[in-house]
Amino acid sequence: MSGRHFLQIPGPTNVPERILRAMDRAVIDHRGPEMPALVGEIVAGLKRIFRTERGEIVLYPGSGTAAWEASLVNTLSPGDRVLAFNIGHFSHLYAECARRLGIAVDEVDLPWGDGVPPAVVRERLAHDSAQAYKAVLVVHNETSTGVTSDIRGIREAIDAARHPALLLVDVVSALGSVDVRFDEWGIDVALTGTQKGLMLPPGMAILCAGPRALEAGARATSARYFFDWAPVLAEMRRGYFPYTPATLSLYGLREAVRMLLEEGLDRVLARHRRLAEGVRRAVAALGLAVLCRDPRLCSPSLTAVVVPDGADADAVLRAAERFHLSLGTGLGRLKGRVFRVGHLGALNELEVLATIAGVELACTVAGIRVPLGAGVAACERFFAEQLTVAPTAAP
Ligand SMILES: Cc1ncc(COP(=O)(O)O)c(C=O)c1O
Repeated sequence: MSGRHFLQIPGPTNVPERILRAMDRAVIDHRGPEMPALVGEIVAGLKRIFRTERGEIVLYPGSGTAAWEASLVNTLSPGDRVLAFNIGHFSHLYAECARRLGIAVDEVDLPWGDGVPPAVVRERLAHDSAQAYKAVLVVHNETSTGVTSDIRGIREAIDAARHPALLLVDVVSALGSVDVRFDEWGIDVALTGTQKGLMLPPGMAILCAGPRALEAGARATSARYFFDWAPVLAEMRRGYFPYTPATLSLYGLREAVRMLLEEGLDRVLARHRRLAEGVRRAVAALGLAVLCRDPRLCSPSLTAVVVPDGADADAVLRAAERFHLSLGTGLGRLKGRVFRVGHLGALNELEVLATIAGVELACTVAGIRVPLGAGVAACERFFAEQLTVAPTAAP
């Protein structure tokens, strides 16, 4: 193959050269003197990215799935009841993870393409006069549908119902690309992996745990050993871990944190919103539909594109591979009905335009008639409008 491969799935994302170089080094002694500075910088940087002063950072080798499990076993006990929402593949699996751990899950089924309505949270909790729900589980950015949920609104709904349930939020495809405000939104646990907005290869799970979650953790009786956050937190405060950490990934994570903070978190998030809008303009110009039904909830990190009736979305994926472009497949009940364009992580306008060109080519090769060039043109016009500097008056 000549040229580069376009990995435009919604995670893992492209790993920038800077991060690759930071990890390309000899393994260090994880009990040695270099660790505290490395861990200290990562923890301080991640706290800024989660926008928290009261949350504590917990790292494990693992992926988002490991982070789900860690969030549950550290805060809940078998038999506890939680409120969850099925708005897509990942929110359903988070609920399923809880169920397998012996937690009683009330999973509210909603259309795939919608977010979690705060009004439904309020109503459910208001009816729970015995306060049986110990936690509310929400996926901030549902990666299978490209829909975000209003976490601030959900926090307000919990407060309006005067309910003490913990708020556990999956920010796997949100952190670093969608605004996450841990303190302001009263999140009790936020969880993620490193392979999406944090731009690293897959391999690490990250939790941010607030004071109420840590207190609940002291009482929770779920069986846990590796995932027990108490020894991890105790060691991490000293700059070490109670297990052998993914040492080289830590160097990558430090570099990723530096990159995000150098660009500035607000600018990173604005870039994601801009690139996402460019993609949605392109999809509309191609005559295709975006799965997300409420434009205010469309994801800044990925777009799920619905193919016309009778077409096979996976045929688009196969055609895209011929142009060295990877797009995301439809998951669960969306298999064959949607393909997903990832636009998160280390990405810029020209890369998005190339991706759109690839989508147009792939649709055409797969037999879906789209006006070639129309998507690229719409996206280009939008980027030009956004970035054009107003002409200065002649002297
Ligand atoms: C929102 C969300 N949660 C959880 C997961 C599971 O994470 P992992 O595949 O890293 O185990 C994913 C994976 O894509 C995800 O998108």
